[in-house]
Amino acid sequence: MATFIVLLGPPGAGKGTQAQIISRSMNLPHISTGDLFRENIKNLTELGKEAQTYMNQGQLVPDSLTISMVKERLSRSDCVNGALLDGFPRTSAQAEAFDRMLLETFKSKVDCVPCIEVEADHLIERLCGRWMCPNGHVFHTKFNPPKESGVCDICGSALYQRDDDKIQTVSRRIAVYEAQTAPLIQYYENQNVLYRIDGSQEIDSVSADILDVLKKFAKK
Ligand code: AP5
Ligand code: MG
Repeated sequence: MATFIVLLGPPGAGKGTQAQIISRSMNLPHISTGDLFRENIKNLTELGKEAQTYMNQGQLVPDSLTISMVKERLSRSDCVNGALLDGFPRTSAQAEAFDRMLLETFKSKVDCVPCIEVEADHLIERLCGRWMCPNGHVFHTKFNPPKESGVCDICGSALYQRDDDKIQTVSRRIAVYEAQTAPLIQYYENQNVLYRIDGSQEIDSVSADILDVLKKFAKK
């Protein structure tokens, strides 16, 4: 049966950082809706043009666009054994649509939701010091510096700072998370699949805690 893991947590909690590690260790494709939107923006697609206006304001892209993009991504052959979702679902409507999608297409359900928790002050420091590569690999000037400044350790691409990592947009994104995404904690608690992770620890300790949770769930 396919395995679906959802990484939940506010902007800057470390979803992308952890997804890189966990997807390798679980051998599941890493699906980040933020990365998919950024790829569309780079390729000047219609979806990218529409998404960009919302993203630059720190708002969520409308559910209908997001859900159909994820549906298309999950239909690709690398998802037959499941996937690790990062940044999706982010609203109750997306969570309900995702449950329906998994049931209809995979006869499956969300198996495990590690929720990475970090205080708001730390989130701002993390996002304002973040550098990324176009392939979604994530670094931080202080907490996770690349070996060579401005160059991705993993694929050698040039690193850049995201447009939505400006202080005003970061604060808006955190508020949007609290209003629209935090209610999913209760949604997944009700399904008995939510595990709270202390995201204020060092990157390796956070990964170890998530992998521990995933091992427990695998034994269930
Ligand atoms: P998205 O790209 O998903 O951004 P986000 O949720 O705001 O999350 P981030 O990517 O900013 O943070 P992260 O948790 O991945 O942290 P990271 O690992 O990079 O979405 C962007 C936008 O797209 C949204 O605002 C919205 O407009 C749109 N969108 C996306 N999905 C959508 C959806 N489903 N519905 C509607 N709209 C959607 O880490 C952050 C920094 O901290 C890095 O520099 C990292 O090196 C560092 N760091 C990580 N872990 C640690 C640690 N343990 N200690 C110290 N530093 C750390
Ligand atoms: Mg991310």
